[in-house]
Amino acid sequence: MISIAVDGPSGSGKSSLAKSISKMLGILYLDTGALYRAIGYTCLNQLGEDITEAQVYALLPALTVDLGYQDSVQHVYVNGEDVSSFIRTQPVAMAASKVSAFPQVRAFLLDLQRSIAAKNDVIMDGRDVGTVILPNADVKIFLTAKPEVRASRRVGELAEKGIQADFDTVLKEVLQRDHNDSTRAVAPLKQADDAVLLDNSLRDAEQTVNDALEIIRSKVSL
Ligand code: DC
Repeated sequence: MISIAVDGPSGSGKSSLAKSISKMLGILYLDTGALYRAIGYTCLNQLGEDITEAQVYALLPALTVDLGYQDSVQHVYVNGEDVSSFIRTQPVAMAASKVSAFPQVRAFLLDLQRSIAAKNDVIMDGRDVGTVILPNADVKIFLTAKPEVRASRRVGELAEKGIQADFDTVLKEVLQRDHNDSTRAVAPLKQADDAVLLDNSLRDAEQTVNDALEIIRSKVSL
């Protein structure tokens, strides 16, 4: 099985890149952030915003998180319920960032991610795919862009959905999530030693796909 790991901060374009590559190469796309978002969403509903580690751990034994694919689109299920359409909000992103720092939450999701990679050729995006989940991945890309560029992309995405967002507020959230994700004790966001750094601050989506394909083709034949 061939595995491609794409890690990097939020807003760097990992999921757009991984989706395009998965289509072009005919391999599975696994969005690992959706798993943390599913747990964040559940905790937000059941516990509210002030989540403690102990409360989350008390909840875990009663939770099952699963992935499925419909027309090649990933869906995530919590206790059998498809929560995919509820997990893309800012409060859920913040809750996901919070619960993802808890070691037992990470351990809870580890086997699911590895078992999918063991059975499929896969491109997986997240924060610790190349460092923890698949340390022997065939290809590792660390995708990043300057915080201001990522914030301005986010403002653009929201505008497309008819939501007007303030750049400074969005930038603050981007920096806050970067800080949370890269300073946590367990599996922090960091570039794997053997990952190729791709900074797409000055590249559009198509150029980023081409850059990534070049990296992938230099390592594996697909
Ligand atoms: O990529 P995303 O924005 O959907 O991820 C949501 C949160 O989950 C993010 O703040 C960091 C966390 N996450 C993680 O800790 N490890 C991963 N492999 C993927 C996401």
